[in-house]
Amino acid sequence: MFGRRTEGQPVARKPAPAPAQAEAPRPASPAHVAAAPKAPAPKPVAPTKPAPRASDHRSDNYYQIKTTIFNALIDTIDLTQLAQLDAESAREEIRDIVNEILSIKNVVMSISEQEALLQDICNDVLGYGPLEPLLARDDIADIMVNGSDRTFIEVSGKVELTNIRFRDNSQLMNICQRIVSQVGRRVDESSPICDARLPDGSRVNVIVPPLSIDGPALTIRKFRRDKLTMNDLVGYNSISQEGAEVLGIIGKVRCNVLISGGTGSGKTTLLNCLTGFIDADERIITCEDAAELQLQQPHVVRLETRPPNLEGQGQVTMTELVRNCLRMRPERIIVGEVRGPEAFDLLQAMNTGHDGSMGTLHANSPREALSRLESMITMGGYQLPSKTIREMICGSIDVVIQAARLRDGSRRITHITEVLGTEGDVIITQDLFVYDIEGEDEAGRIIGKHRSTGIARPSFWDRARYYNQHHALAAALDRAQG
Ligand SMILES: Nc1ncnc2c1ncn2[C@@H]1O[C@H](COP(=O)(O)OP(=O)(O)OP(=O)(O)O)[C@@H](O)[C@H]1O
Ligand SMILES: [Mg+2]
Repeated sequence: MFGRRTEGQPVARKPAPAPAQAEAPRPASPAHVAAAPKAPAPKPVAPTKPAPRASDHRSDNYYQIKTTIFNALIDTIDLTQLAQLDAESAREEIRDIVNEILSIKNVVMSISEQEALLQDICNDVLGYGPLEPLLARDDIADIMVNGSDRTFIEVSGKVELTNIRFRDNSQLMNICQRIVSQVGRRVDESSPICDARLPDGSRVNVIVPPLSIDGPALTIRKFRRDKLTMNDLVGYNSISQEGAEVLGIIGKVRCNVLISGGTGSGKTTLLNCLTGFIDADERIITCEDAAELQLQQPHVVRLETRPPNLEGQGQVTMTELVRNCLRMRPERIIVGEVRGPEAFDLLQAMNTGHDGSMGTLHANSPREALSRLESMITMGGYQLPSKTIREMICGSIDVVIQAARLRDGSRRITHITEVLGTEGDVIITQDLFVYDIEGEDEAGRIIGKHRSTGIARPSFWDRARYYNQHHALAAALDRAQG
């Protein structure tokens, strides 16, 4: 037993102030401990409503009781020692103490209410506090916390407000701090922006005051262990069966592919699906800002960029990673997201024998994707005439696949477009598949159809023939027209 009050005494202060390792809803510095509101010790606390689910609405009364119990708990236990226990023992320890506090303070609660309270308190002390129930759910794509009392989630493509709230901005700040400290970083006024990753692989961005005006803003892209497959995309109507077959062939025959789309439109998911068509014996190198891709092949090297440390040193950029890749004898290079001068290096790689390389990029149409690529190269300081850059783009990129999140929240592949070449200064593209919106049903869901544009011999036909995929390609394109 550690730091526990001795039997028979009222809830005692522990001798030493708690260090900040195990975060608590209120800062555990001595000054804060002294300033914290005291629990109304012997007064019975009114019972709460029946125990709600963690994400359900909870009354102010519940939060009051929780704060009271929590404060008493923090005064009692030694967080340093608690941090050394494994999760199960720590939970048991907290359970014992909370039960004692409940009885000392005469809090009347049903067993299920106590369980919910205990769960909440354990989440606060051991985990990510009010975020825990959201992190535990598999159906959430994004969690967006805008300050302590507004948390939104994206479920099935729709963004909704939850009843999750934090005690105050300092509790939220502590949770942000705990998240980023896992990657050796910190967020505060002097470094108010930080990207990090949760242990489960979820991607996290934190921005705190003074840059975010109404309290810390935390954005989490939940990591999906069971990544969507091309069959899932067909099932969700994101792409037609024939379109999926053509995409599979594009992946197999080593076309260089750019996946374009807006934020959260499904670019990374689609890239992951495409990599599923790569042969098991190919050497693949992936470069990402936060490792999200899950390649199934045995011969994969995964690389991740590194932000600068607290002294501003040690940054490794995407450009450096892509350049280094070229010295690692890759057969294919996969860049999670192209957003800067690495565009030039990726194109060069595609141009110099690393066919089948792929990357994603933020843009709203295939044409915009190509011009964004051009501006990235120009802004990277390469003094090349734009005609040369465009020729380089055409010489490198074979196919642009456009992903979109439509206004009803559904995600669709809206274009499969080939890059044919340049005519004068203009890049010529040709759509193979497009998604036509036809209307919407009573529930507001968009009705539409994937349509082949009737091209029977795409420009990668010879490549398909070389890999003996031309029959499959012709069959898929024929069916798509039928
Ligand atoms: N076709 C789809 N149908 C349904 N859900 C999808 C589809 N594609 C992706 N998703 C889900 O949408 C969320 C966002 O997907 P993803 O990370 O691939 O988007 P992104 O475009 O790469 O986002 P970002 O711009 O933030 O990198 C994920 O939770 C993913 O599982
Ligand atoms: Mg992505």
